[in-house]
Amino acid sequence: MIVEHLELVDFRNYRKERFELTDGTTVVLGNNGHGKTNLAEALAYLATLSSFRGVSNEAMIRHEAETAVIRATVLHPDGRRSNVDAELSRGAPGRVQVNRQRLRRARDLLGTIRVTVFSPDDLGIVKGSPGERRRYVDDALVALSAKYDAVRLDVDRAVRQRNRLLKQMAGRMDGDDAVTLDVWDARLADAGERFGEARAALIGRLAPIVQEAYGDLAGPTSVGLSYEPPWRTQGLAAALAVARTADVRLRASTVGPHRDDIELSIGSLPARSQASQGEQRTLALALRLGTHRLVSEQEDSAPVLVLDDVLSELDASRAAALLRHLPVGQIIITTAGAIPDAVEPHRIIRITDGAQV
Ligand SMILES: Nc1ncnc2c1ncn2[C@@H]1O[C@H](COP(=O)(O)OP(=O)(O)O)[C@@H](O)[C@H]1O
Ligand SMILES: [Mg+2]
Repeated sequence: MIVEHLELVDFRNYRKERFELTDGTTVVLGNNGHGKTNLAEALAYLATLSSFRGVSNEAMIRHEAETAVIRATVLHPDGRRSNVDAELSRGAPGRVQVNRQRLRRARDLLGTIRVTVFSPDDLGIVKGSPGERRRYVDDALVALSAKYDAVRLDVDRAVRQRNRLLKQMAGRMDGDDAVTLDVWDARLADAGERFGEARAALIGRLAPIVQEAYGDLAGPTSVGLSYEPPWRTQGLAAALAVARTADVRLRASTVGPHRDDIELSIGSLPARSQASQGEQRTLALALRLGTHRLVSEQEDSAPVLVLDDVLSELDASRAAALLRHLPVGQIIITTAGAIPDAVEPHRIIRITDGAQV
């Protein structure tokens, strides 16, 4: 898939800017703080309808503007073109048009455009909290199959409603509360089981691919991914029943997909606490490369790949290894420094203060 052009209106520090992109490699040059990551974020928004920086839509609208617009023309592998028009508003859900047809729900866009972003923040997948690992896996799940977006929302909703009730109960349970809690438990158990099943299946597919990607970047090393929350053996309905007394006391849902972790290991040691920073960074790259390869294989076409400021962080040999092992397709590389030696750009875009120069 190729994004042929990208237009931003009142997005972050861009007023109105149209970028002509190309198959092959585009390098985006600009000093820090001038809009390189913003450009990557806009492109990735079309794939996920959210910011890869984990902020609200509102944060992406230019200060002083009411709405932001991201437009793109996408050339699909079968030769079809889609014109996508996404609008972000303050305090209202986003709106999306494809080929001038308004989508009933913005989420129906998912699956139309696929983007993989590599970012220095990816180190957080390895070093950060369980939430960052969940987000990595869940985003991959949705990238591979958009229907899991709805399951993820069902889980979130059930957890929120269950937690709201637990707060209202203020540590005490009467008969009515128990009945309502039964309802939320059933919803959480249903959506949670489906989501846990999907996560486990994905981890099973990813593990050998991430292992291979790590080897491509750093030579043969055993790396592991595992997802084995105790509730999966017991069943979530049973686990929620066991946790109920504690949940009432703590006024929060302590068991379920929203609390799980994905264990990562390098050479059979936990990567989060035992690996060196270099190994952690390589594992983060291998995780991204892994999902990129999985989606490329499944779709028989590579997602647009964005390397946002990551090459400058790697030593020359690792940067070259990464570039050598990327599936062919459209690649956008941003950097504040010089164009890395191993890169042969087809196009160069220079950005200053939210404008091309
Ligand atoms: N909502 C917004 N409205 C206007 N400017 C913004 C907004 N959000 C971020 N910016 C500006 O964008 C710039 C950072 O852009 P960014 O793409 O992160 O830079 P870099 O080129 O270093 O990747 C900062 O100057 C910041 O003030
Ligand atoms: Mg940046």
